[in-house]
Amino acid sequence: MKLIIASDHAGLELRRELVSLLKEQGIDHEDVGPSTPESVDYPDFAREVAKAVSEGRYPFGVLVCGTGIGMSMVANKYRGVRAALCTTEFEARMARAHNDANVLCVGQRVVGVGVARGILEAFLATPFEGGRHQKRVDKIREAESEGGRQGPQPRE
Ligand code: RB5
Repeated sequence: MKLIIASDHAGLELRRELVSLLKEQGIDHEDVGPSTPESVDYPDFAREVAKAVSEGRYPFGVLVCGTGIGMSMVANKYRGVRAALCTTEFEARMARAHNDANVLCVGQRVVGVGVARGILEAFLATPFEGGRHQKRVDKIREAESEGGRQGPQPRE
């Protein structure tokens, strides 16, 4: 087990709590920050984590922002990344067991520290069930390629 974790300023405190949990459990991790509470843009940090997972440098990632929404939106743009925004332990278990999620997103303004720790523990402890879920996860890959072929892309 090895993972990469990041947040934005709105997720910094919770990220620190989750990093403490990783240390307590002896889980190998890279914490890519930010290290100060100054305002940053969540896509910059989501991209770093999602790229690392997409390229296979880390099997798992964790992203924390105010809601977890922006982080999950960015992370899911990356090939092979299946980011799950979780607010409960149940969702975290299902995200691993059924969806083979490889990036966990949580919102500091949504869940308390205790719940977030439980979510991360559930995410780390739950294996993908495979079986009937495998072909569905394969179809996520197919959708990824299909989406990539569609155009033109919307402009800003
Ligand atoms: C930052 O204020 C906030 O917008 C961000 O942390 C996140 O919630 C975005 O989805």
